[in-house]
Amino acid sequence: MSKRKDSGAADADVASSSNRDEIIKGLNEDLAREYQAIIQYVVFSSTLKGAEYGDIADQLKIHASQELAHALEVARQIDYLGGNPTVKSKGAGYSNNSKKMLEIDLKSEQETIRNYRERIRQAERAGEFALSEALRDIIAEEQDHEIDLRDALGLR
Ligand SMILES: [Fe+2]
Ligand SMILES: [Fe+2]
Repeated sequence: MSKRKDSGAADADVASSSNRDEIIKGLNEDLAREYQAIIQYVVFSSTLKGAEYGDIADQLKIHASQELAHALEVARQIDYLGGNPTVKSKGAGYSNNSKKMLEIDLKSEQETIRNYRERIRQAERAGEFALSEALRDIIAEEQDHEIDLRDALGLR
């Protein structure tokens, strides 16, 4: 009986460590997306042209610093789980056309939100509730970013 119990515990350990590896892998993808967002917002906020985009340029500067805070938090979570935070960014998009730039940002935010939703599910399945709470705070800001961009594009 004790033998079966031991092997059950060992299985659980293997399962939880492979869950953790999956979460770390996913969080590193998220971190790479945060770097990408920082780059896009730094560049876009300083190059956006057109009076109709005056307000959003200021909002994009705020987004840039929020994305940096997200990157710092995600990197901290990766380190806490025993992983190595990536130094690589996802490829940042760029367009000379202001509307296209905003559309690129919107698409990035939507992909980011999709991925954080999946990460929250993974964290909760693995019993990593502190992580899922941290990710919920981040995703709330990403949703605000999406709304700002949709407003600027007249999509709401
Ligand atoms: Fe972010
Ligand atoms: Fe964002």
